[in-house]
Amino acid sequence: MTNKKILITAGPTYEKIDPVRFIGNFSSGKMGYAIAEELANKGASVVLISGPTALKINHPNIEKVDVVTAKEMYDASIQNFSKCDGGIMTAAVADFTPQNPVDKKVKRGKENYSIELTPTKDIAASLGKLKTASQFLVGFALETNDEEFNANLKLKKKNLDFIVLNSLNDKGAGFQHDTNKISIISSNAAPKEFELKQKSEVAKDIVNELIDFCEK
Ligand code: CTP
Repeated sequence: MTNKKILITAGPTYEKIDPVRFIGNFSSGKMGYAIAEELANKGASVVLISGPTALKINHPNIEKVDVVTAKEMYDASIQNFSKCDGGIMTAAVADFTPQNPVDKKVKRGKENYSIELTPTKDIAASLGKLKTASQFLVGFALETNDEEFNANLKLKKKNLDFIVLNSLNDKGAGFQHDTNKISIISSNAAPKEFELKQKSEVAKDIVNELIDFCEK
C-alpha cells in the first residue's frame, strides 16, 4: 500500500446535551485503529479521524485527527478526503444531535424531560458523492436484523465499493469486543463470510480485500 493515502474514521461521536452530558454510543474504536495500524504497517499513510476513545496509537505513517462531535468528524473528513486515495468509514457516528444544547447544567426535576434531536450529516454518503473514479470508499454496517438486505441498501445509498457487515446476533462481534465476525458485501460478487477472529486479524482480511479491489 506504499504511495496510498487513506482516510479512516473511527470510534464514537459525542453529542453535547449540556456542559456535563452527552449522547454517545458503545463504539470502542478498536476495529478502525486495527485497520489503521495494518495499513500503516503495509506502507500506506493514514489519516485517522477519531472520536473519543481510550486507545493510543503511535506510528510514523499515521496522522491522527481528534474530533468529538459528528459535525467535527464530518468537517475533518471533507477537508481530508480529496487528498486521499480512498476512505474506510468505521466510525459509529451519531445519527442525531441535540438541536439546542444548553450552556448551564440541566437541574434535576420532577417532570419528564425531553431533548429535541436533529439529524446529523451522513459522512459516508457525503464522501460517496464526492468520490472520483480513482478513489475507493469502504463502509461498515452493524445490524441486528435483515443484515444482508440492510447492508446492500447502505452499499448503494452511500455509493460504497464494499461494505463490512457485522451482526449483533453473532457472539463476540461488534462493539467493545477484541474479536469480530464479518462478511464482506460488494455489488458484483457473492458475500464473503469470515470466522470469528481477533480484530487485528479481521483488519488483515479487510486490507487484503482492499488490495484485491485496488488491483482490479
Ligand atoms: N456513517 C457515517 N455518517 C453517519 C452515519 C453513518 O459516515 N452520520 C457511516 C458509518 O461509519 C458506516 C456506515 O455509514 O460506515 C453505516 O453506518 P450505520 O450506522 O450502520 O448506518 P446508518 O446510515 O446510520 O443507518 P441506520 O443507523 O439507520 O442503520
